[in-house]
Amino acid sequence: MYRGLFPLGGPVPERDLVGRKGFVDSLVNRLLEGQNVMLTGPRRIGKTSLAYEVLRRVKEDGSYTASVDFFRFSSKKDFATGLIDACLENRTGISKTLKLMQDKTKILTSGAKFAIKLKDLEISLGYAKKSDDELLDFALQLPGILTEKDKKHMVVMFDEFQDTARVAGPDIFKHMRSHFQIQTQVSYLFLGSKEGMMNTLFSDRKEAFYRFATMLPIPNITDAEWVPYIIEKFNSRDISIKKSVAKEIVKLSGGHPQDTMFLCSEIYYALLETNSNTVTLEYTELGYDRAMIALAPIFDTVLDDIGNRLHARRVLYQLAAGKNVYPENVHPNAAKRAIDFLISKAIIEKKEKGSYAFVEPMFKQYILLTENQ
Ligand SMILES: Nc1ncnc2c1ncn2[C@@H]1O[C@H](COP(=O)(O)OP(=O)(O)O)[C@@H](O)[C@H]1O
Ligand SMILES: [Mg+2]
Repeated sequence: MYRGLFPLGGPVPERDLVGRKGFVDSLVNRLLEGQNVMLTGPRRIGKTSLAYEVLRRVKEDGSYTASVDFFRFSSKKDFATGLIDACLENRTGISKTLKLMQDKTKILTSGAKFAIKLKDLEISLGYAKKSDDELLDFALQLPGILTEKDKKHMVVMFDEFQDTARVAGPDIFKHMRSHFQIQTQVSYLFLGSKEGMMNTLFSDRKEAFYRFATMLPIPNITDAEWVPYIIEKFNSRDISIKKSVAKEIVKLSGGHPQDTMFLCSEIYYALLETNSNTVTLEYTELGYDRAMIALAPIFDTVLDDIGNRLHARRVLYQLAAGKNVYPENVHPNAAKRAIDFLISKAIIEKKEKGSYAFVEPMFKQYILLTENQ
């Protein structure tokens, strides 16, 4: 499933989860104590990886878990069956229980087993006749039913939660909350990559999920956490690397989760191509150039996206160059709007004392490189 030495593009396996250990502990404790938690941050910073690790730990502790990803759903029915399957997996050990139950040949061979396993859950082979709304209503109740019947605690994770309304209509949040708030043995972990939407959903008085979950910031992965991981990984393939070189890699990527993995990966392939077994600064630079070339189309798309926002682009260049983000000949209000726009697009983020930083340090470098041409 995970190809390559450095996993890229999806949740990482346990052994490749760098840093954030204390945060994982804290999340596990909170969820097991019954607290609901909301985490938000730009894409590719490691939310899903983090949540999977939390669920692994919760499961290890003997609790039930379920996770669903709204990016994968396009309808109410998708969501309902996805959630039911995720819940039933705790009892059946099978991720597509409902599908299996619809398959006539399978029913003959394993139908009895399932009928017995699920008989107290009001779920039977006839579930397919239910309307989408009935199915969804059942799905939303299922975590509560399961935990009561099995005397278990359960943690349910919703990924890309801001997409719920697209999938199941605008009333879904009220509907969900009405079920969730009476489930005493279930904790919910909400993840979302649209920060503005997620914050509104959980902190606006008018929203159904107002104050339903504790909102926690996701800590960065520190250089001190990256360096030993990088050294160990290369060493595992009999490739040597000095600490100072590993530090340089993290400096170039800015420690951004996916960009750091990507840079390491490009360096690794450069070594393979030349049959070399030492990561030097030259290889690091070569890997960096290759990573930049591969990222360029993505960065260009982002730039195109803000292209017609004159001030946004200007502010972005100013920030990249380490200059004042309130340029002299731009009205401060216009500059502020541009900054807010860039934050809403998860291109920059607010730091302490009113300063701003790029979410992806390599994007900053890209802007400087292209600017100078
Ligand atoms: N804790 C981590 N340690 C190492 N790499 C990570 C970590 N979190 C994320 N990554 C890198 O970022 C990629 C995207 O992670 P993912 O969890 O899917 O992010 P998100 O859910 O925020 O979009 C992973 O494939 C991996 O390359
Ligand atoms: Mg994700």
